[in-house]
Amino acid sequence: MLDVKQVSKIYDGKMTYRALTDINLTIETGEFVGIMGPSGSGKTTLLNLIATIDEPTAGEVLIDGKNPHQLKKDELAKFRRRELGFVFQEFNLLHTLTVEENIVLPLTLDGHKVKDMKQKAAEIAEKLGITGIMSKRTYEISGGQAQRAAVARAMIHTPKLLLADEPTGNLDSKSSKDVMSMLESINQQERTTMMLVTHDPQAASYCNRVVFIRDGKLYSEIHRGENRQSFFQKIIDTLSLMGGDAHDFSQIRV
Ligand SMILES: Nc1ncnc2c1ncn2[C@@H]1O[C@H](COP(=O)(O)OP(=O)(O)OP(=O)(O)O)[C@@H](O)[C@H]1O
Ligand SMILES: [Mg+2]
Repeated sequence: MLDVKQVSKIYDGKMTYRALTDINLTIETGEFVGIMGPSGSGKTTLLNLIATIDEPTAGEVLIDGKNPHQLKKDELAKFRRRELGFVFQEFNLLHTLTVEENIVLPLTLDGHKVKDMKQKAAEIAEKLGITGIMSKRTYEISGGQAQRAAVARAMIHTPKLLLADEPTGNLDSKSSKDVMSMLESINQQERTTMMLVTHDPQAASYCNRVVFIRDGKLYSEIHRGENRQSFFQKIIDTLSLMGGDAHDFSQIRV
């Protein structure tokens, strides 16, 4: 469903910087893929190119065989709103709205009926275990609840592709496990294709496959078998083989 073909990204500025070189990556429908690598290796750059937030310098990104970068501005906005879902480290919830209002936001923008939106929100809230906080404001809820609300908002329009950049970066390990096992069950139940950028081997162990990037190039990839615990160990082994600052598992970076 996703084809990244020979993609390179060079940032132009005072200093040009080659962030990605000749990346080839295919993700099948329903796959849950993790992207790992040292800080500065190009993970967010890759995610942003797929999210159409930024343009590749060379190569192309195909989503279901179509190149979204070729769409006109308003078509692109619609494509992003309908086909993609985003989850970020900082939750990005709007503080003046309730949890429920935040969750239905993507549907509001697309002009759905209030009754339908509320019903959808209730269904997804149930799945994510946040029914009890729907009328709270975002400053009245915990980080884990905020990230689950952000996942609900990213999923409410049943996107084809969910893109997440460090979704557990601001969470403690319990909330992080909760959010990851919810993403895992949404992935299995809805067959939503997911791509997750993370520094956290525990979070990555919920994926079917982890792709490692180093210095803007694909380094290696490993597949999960039946056992998540042994996949976790394999991820740690690959990170330490890869070197760089990959040893640094700390979640808080400046
Ligand atoms: N807008 C930009 N202009 C110039 N250089 C950039 C820009 N964005 C990123 N870079 C550079 O590109 C490289 C890759 O950055 P990127 O954000 O993709 O790394 P990352 O793997 O996501 O790192 P982290 O794990 O710290 O989030 C870095 O060296 C960064 O300094
Ligand atoms: Mg990043």
